[in-house]
Amino acid sequence: MINRWFSLEGKVALVTGSYRGLGYSIAEALAMAGARTYINGRDAAGVDQSASGLRDRGLDVRGAVFDVTDEESVDAAIREIEESADSVDILVNNAGIQRRSLLVDMPVADFDAVVRTNLYSAFIVAKAVVPAMQARRGGKIINICSLMSYLARRTTGNYAAAKGGLEMLTKSMAAEWAGDDIQVNGIAPGYFATEMTRPLADDAVLNEWICGRTPAGRWGRPEELQATAVFLASTASSFINGQVVIVDGGLSAVI
Ligand code: GCO
Repeated sequence: MINRWFSLEGKVALVTGSYRGLGYSIAEALAMAGARTYINGRDAAGVDQSASGLRDRGLDVRGAVFDVTDEESVDAAIREIEESADSVDILVNNAGIQRRSLLVDMPVADFDAVVRTNLYSAFIVAKAVVPAMQARRGGKIINICSLMSYLARRTTGNYAAAKGGLEMLTKSMAAEWAGDDIQVNGIAPGYFATEMTRPLADDAVLNEWICGRTPAGRWGRPEELQATAVFLASTASSFINGQVVIVDGGLSAVI
């Protein structure tokens, strides 16, 4: 009984920005739970290497190389997935970048790139997959928000603005699509050890501040997001809508 709640057997999942980092860890988890999982990125070699590595472990994983910020590229990719008899049952909007600098020094191009990749892409990709979900009356969308959907830090104003918007886009999607039995929720990671946060971990002062500011006293490990992703992708969360699960070692709970 318990396993049935969390099984993704027979489902098709697409995780954007998933050939490395937290996205890769989430894609791995969905595949381990039984979903046919599409790994996405713009780097064809990276996508192919990650997808084939997971296939070598017996997981049903395919690659989908497209730019999540380009509507035509997204529409063509979703059409290709659907033409191969796979309708996307589970969408994880994970794609995200960082371009850190003080706002006053920040090139407009860096603000635009971060908001476009971290926020616009969630709208663009969801808009492409939702019609088929509505036709089938069912689906799951998980937006990867952030601790910075709620708390700001100097030099990440573009990232926080995008992730704050993503939290409200999650609620807006839930408001419009819950009636079609599509559950839209989010995950807000705190500080996790990935390539994107490597500059922080390598900075002794920042690393000490992060570990001291986090009640758990350490960085999160990517695999510590996996069960939350499977939960929100499965029938176990069939009456949860518009919620964001914060996975941050307690950081947002304390001053
Ligand atoms: C930073 C980090 C954060 C983390 C994480 C926190 O510069 O402070 O990059 O933004 O990436 O998203 O939730």
